[in-house]
Amino acid sequence: MGKLDLFSGLYKGKKILITGHTGFKGSWLTIWLKELGAEVYGYALEPTSENDNFVTSNLKEKIFHQVGDIRNLDLLKKYFQQVNPDIAFHLAAQPLVIDSYINPHYNFETNLMGTVNFFEAVRHTSSVKVAVNVTTDKCYQNNEWLWGYREIDAMGGDDPYSASKGCSEIITNSYIKSFFSKENTAHVGSGRAGNVIGGGDWAENRIIPDIIRAYKENRESVIRNPNSVRPWQFVLEPLFGYLKLAEKLWTSGKSYSGGWNFGPSSYENYTVGDVVEEVRVLIPSLKITLPDITEKLHEAGVLKLDITKAVNQLNWKPKLNFKDTLKFTIEGYLDELNPDINVYDSRVKQIESYCNK
Ligand SMILES: NC(=O)c1ccc[n+]([C@@H]2O[C@H](COP(=O)([O-])OP(=O)(O)OC[C@H]3O[C@@H](n4cnc5c(N)ncnc54)[C@H](O)[C@@H]3O)[C@@H](O)[C@H]2O)c1
Repeated sequence: MGKLDLFSGLYKGKKILITGHTGFKGSWLTIWLKELGAEVYGYALEPTSENDNFVTSNLKEKIFHQVGDIRNLDLLKKYFQQVNPDIAFHLAAQPLVIDSYINPHYNFETNLMGTVNFFEAVRHTSSVKVAVNVTTDKCYQNNEWLWGYREIDAMGGDDPYSASKGCSEIITNSYIKSFFSKENTAHVGSGRAGNVIGGGDWAENRIIPDIIRAYKENRESVIRNPNSVRPWQFVLEPLFGYLKLAEKLWTSGKSYSGGWNFGPSSYENYTVGDVVEEVRVLIPSLKITLPDITEKLHEAGVLKLDITKAVNQLNWKPKLNFKDTLKFTIEGYLDELNPDINVYDSRVKQIESYCNK
C-alpha cells in the first residue's frame, strides 16, 4: 500500500465522497483512494456499458455506491448528510463537446446546476473539510494564442460544454468568496486538466477508444485528422494533481483555494499521427489507415495550460513522457481484453508503477 501513497498517509481511514465515480476518471480515482485505505462513497448515474472501468473493475462490490442524478439537490444533500464525508471530489458531469451541441439544456443543467448542487451539499454538511471541483482546460476564454493559459486568465467557452465548465469555475469562485472564506468552512479548490487517456475509457469519437474498439472487433481503423495536436495525458496525471490539491487544502488551508492547472509539460506537443505510430509499435498487428502526414500544419484553437503554479506550489508535475503515456494506456486496454487478467489488480499495478516513476 505504501507504494501508492504520495500523500503522507492523509487518505487512510478518511471518508471520501466522489460524484461521478462510475465514469472513466472517477472510477480510477475510486481505485486509487480505496488502495490508500480510504472509505469511498460514490454518487452518480449507473455505468453506461459493461465495458466501463467501474464494471470491469467490479467496483460495485468494493465501495458504497449511490445511484443518483446530480440535478437532484434533495437526494444529493441527503446522501452527503448520511455519509458525513471528510473530503469530496466533484466529477459528475456531461463531459463531451459533441453531446453538448445535441442537448445543450441537459449539458447546462448537469454541469452548471450540478456544480451549484455539489457546493450546496458541501455547505450543508459540516463534516466536509475539503472539496475539489473537476473542470477542464476548456474553461478558459480561448484567445487562439500560443502561450499556456494561467489560472489568472479569463474564463470563457464558446461551445455549450466549454461554456458550462467556464461557468462551473465562476460558480466555484462565487462559493469560495461568498460561503467558504469564513473560519470552520470547507477549503475549496478546482482542477483544470486537458484530454486524458487510459484503459477503461470507451467513449465514442475519441481516437484511442476508437482504435482499440476496431482492434477488438478485428476491423481496420481509419484516422481522419493525423495532424491534430492534443494534450495527451495519462489518466493518473490529473488525478495525482487533484489528490495533491486536496492534501494541501487539508494540511495548509485556504491559501490553496481556487483554480489549479494540471496539464502536460509544454514541450510535449504530439499529433494524432504520432499517437498512431506509437500504438502501432505497441500492437504490431493493428490494422490502421493513416493519410499522408508529412505536412505538419498548425491547428488553430489548440489550448495549452501553464502548469507553473501546480509545479511550484503543490509539488506536482507530470511523471510520464509521451512514450510512457501511450505504454500505460495500451497496456491498460490489453489487460482489460485479456480474460485471464483481473482488471482491478491491473489498475492497482499501474497506479503502483506510476507512483514509482
Ligand atoms: N475525460 C477527459 O478527457 C476529460 C478532460 C477534461 C475534463 N474532464 C472532466 O472530468 C470529469 C469526469 O469526466 P470523465 O471523462 O470521467 O467522464 P465520464 O462520462 O466517463 O463520467 C462522467 C460521470 O458523471 C456521471 N454523471 C453524468 N451525468 C450525471 C448526472 N446528471 N447525474 C449524476 N451523475 C452524472 C456519470 O454517471 C459518470 O459517473 C468531468 O467533469 C469532465 O468534464 C474529462
